[in-house]
Amino acid sequence: MNIVILVSGTGSNMAAIIKAADSFDPRSQIVAVISNQPKARALISAADAGIAAAVVDHSAHPDRQSFDAALQQQIDQFQPDLVVLAGFMRILTPEFVRHYADRLINIHPSLLPKYKGLKTHEQALLNGDKEHGCTVHAVSSELDSGAIIAQARLETRQDDTAASLANRVLQLEHQLYPACVRLITQGRLKLIKGRVLFDGQPLPEQGLDLNDVAS
Ligand code: GRF
Repeated sequence: MNIVILVSGTGSNMAAIIKAADSFDPRSQIVAVISNQPKARALISAADAGIAAAVVDHSAHPDRQSFDAALQQQIDQFQPDLVVLAGFMRILTPEFVRHYADRLINIHPSLLPKYKGLKTHEQALLNGDKEHGCTVHAVSSELDSGAIIAQARLETRQDDTAASLANRVLQLEHQLYPACVRLITQGRLKLIKGRVLFDGQPLPEQGLDLNDVAS
């Protein structure tokens, strides 16, 4: 299974996935990391890990369609079976999402369907949420709305700030995302027609939890 990771920034999730790659099915490999930001720190970490890194700069394209078409062309050179969005800060066109149907996953820093989009930690605090977390999901053409694969949760604290919460959620992301990718490489998690199966069974709406995927 060929895995391509798309990034825009720091790439800490990407790094966690690369670090966990030894536990993936041996027939799988991370074949490339692609960034829309030429200066993304993730590109340096990918190169350090010996993984092919490429840039498709969105600012060099007049519109979303032409950027996505160029990105698709670059990704497809690596013949991916799985495309992993890891802090890839672009809204994707429906054509792009359709092209990678059942091969495209994302991680989002909230317990979806709560808090799609940005500023998720701020919203959780403003609403006085007792729990918060992150979600790995299949990507559909609607933002942060595809079938949920897995969620990891934590309890919010009285003294949490958006930054402290973001930091603790990120630690959970680094456990949840590699574990989900591992299960996909092993064929235990499967995306079929926008739905998710785990060991052949459909998942509940909130997907698996961290214990399920870590085992
Ligand atoms: C993570 O919080 C991820 O959930 C969100 O963007 C952030 C990326 O962080 N989509 P990193 O680049 O993986 O460090």
